Amino acid sequence: MDTADTYNYKVVRQFAVMTIVWGIVGMAVGVYIAAELVWPQLNFDIPWLTFSRLRPLHTNAVIFAFGGSALFATSYYVVQRTCQTRLFSDGLAAFTFWGWQLIIVLAAVTLPLGITSSKEYAELEWPIDLLIAVVWVAYAIVFFGTIVKRKVSHIYVANWFYGAFILTIAVLHIFNNLEVPVSLTKSYSIYPGAIDAMVQWWYGHNAVGFFLTAGFLGMMYYFIPKQANRPVYSYRLSVVHFWALISTYIWAGPHHLHYTALPDWAQSLGMVFSLILLAPSWGGMINGMMTLSGAWHKLRDDPILKFLIVSLSFYGMSTFEGPMMSIKTVNSLSHFTDWTIGHVHSGALGWVGLVSIGSIYFLIPKLFGKERMYSVKAMETHFWIATVGIVLYIASMWISGVMQGLMWRAVNDDGTLTYSFVESLKAMYPYYFVRFLGGTLFLTGMFIMAWNAWKTISGATPAAATATQSA
Ligand code: HEM
Ligand code: HEM
Repeated sequence: MDTADTYNYKVVRQFAVMTIVWGIVGMAVGVYIAAELVWPQLNFDIPWLTFSRLRPLHTNAVIFAFGGSALFATSYYVVQRTCQTRLFSDGLAAFTFWGWQLIIVLAAVTLPLGITSSKEYAELEWPIDLLIAVVWVAYAIVFFGTIVKRKVSHIYVANWFYGAFILTIAVLHIFNNLEVPVSLTKSYSIYPGAIDAMVQWWYGHNAVGFFLTAGFLGMMYYFIPKQANRPVYSYRLSVVHFWALISTYIWAGPHHLHYTALPDWAQSLGMVFSLILLAPSWGGMINGMMTLSGAWHKLRDDPILKFLIVSLSFYGMSTFEGPMMSIKTVNSLSHFTDWTIGHVHSGALGWVGLVSIGSIYFLIPKLFGKERMYSVKAMETHFWIATVGIVLYIASMWISGVMQGLMWRAVNDDGTLTYSFVESLKAMYPYYFVRFLGGTLFLTGMFIMAWNAWKTISGATPAAATATQSA
């Protein structure tokens, strides 16, 4: 039977295309706010163009619109292929697509207007929160319903990661957003003071651990073996990786609240669990990389594998850096500085960005019945432009971050500060420009991807021999 009839590819196609669209939108806003930090006059004195309003728009667009669409697309594809059955419900799947797009549009309207609950990564106000909860429950029903009706007894490890991501995000979203509405556009958290901060960073850190990591590890466990045409290096390690990662991540949140009103023991607990987290993170990275053992030569001329494997190196880098930054004494230097921003983007651009791009390049031809992407050369160019962009971005932020930290804490013999704040700000200028250049390169790569996808979809590439073969 034709795979198009066996599986629901429509919703996968929709989310795959929107991954590219939202990637461009979210990163364009990123480049704009990066430019504002170099040329502040770019806010044109218009409130909704100010850095403070566009920044949450950027974070929401890249994490939830770009990253979210990539997660929906790949999880719906992977769960069908590995369970050898169609999605549990086409209607509910379509509802998740349109519901998620509506949420994104509502975010894009409300955030620039300054409507926000002011919790980072959970800024959206209560009516949108309710909509997110409903769409997410529908997503869980489609995903787990498909697992239940699977035609093979085994549940492939990628689905474990996707499943943990879906379940945990539901719990985090609901509990962090418990709030008392005072009007349609304003609400207050039900938690007081330090408890509110604790719940927020339990949410915030696990948004990283489950939204930006677990789901993408699901991607890694399916697409790397597929593209390399080899089994996962160690299936046993992947199971240990799963349980170790999810049981450790959930405790690490307090590392965002070092030296605050949070009890000291809770801060230390967060630090210790963050240090432990290095082990499962690297176990997973090594498992992914070693899947290529005996096939390393494929990296030379396969741009999709390049995206996937280099994403893992950035994953390894950011999950080494994170535990180091969670050490209290290191955090006393890094917190509040651009070092954090460098860390964020080595994870966000290097890991989340590259693994999503590689997976979407894998999917596009298969979803549209084509033999391959229109231009392999363009994918190769995209890979190099993106990688150089990331290196420029994170290296400039590391330098400016450490410099900021050192300048702020420098004191003269008489105990007065060596530098005024404005002096440290002036010192950042060249690095902010280099970050802007790096971001522009990464965004250019996304435009190349959009062009290549367009050419592939619109028929410039030969059709695959049969639909079954192509899937
Ligand atoms: C072992 C894994 C990791 C650990 C232990 C870790 C630890 C940390 C620490 C200590 C901070 C600084 C907190 C502060 O000073 O406020 C931080 C910030 C951050 N990390 Fe990681 N990190 C890890 C992996 C990642 C990955 C893979 C990503 C992205 C995909 C990521 C995204 C972020 C983000 C977005 C922030 C900024 C949060 C904010 O203040 O808004 N982290 N991380
Ligand atoms: C062209 C690419 C990008 C550019 C130019 C860019 C630029 C920026 C800028 C200028 C900031 C504000 C930094 C500050 O407050 O000092 C920022 C914050 C942030 N970006 Fe990006 N970004 C890009 C891509 C991404 C992607 C793909 C993701 C996630 C998948 C991401 C996630 C974040 C997060 C989580 C923050 C907040 C970090 C924090 O609060 O510590 N960015 N970005």
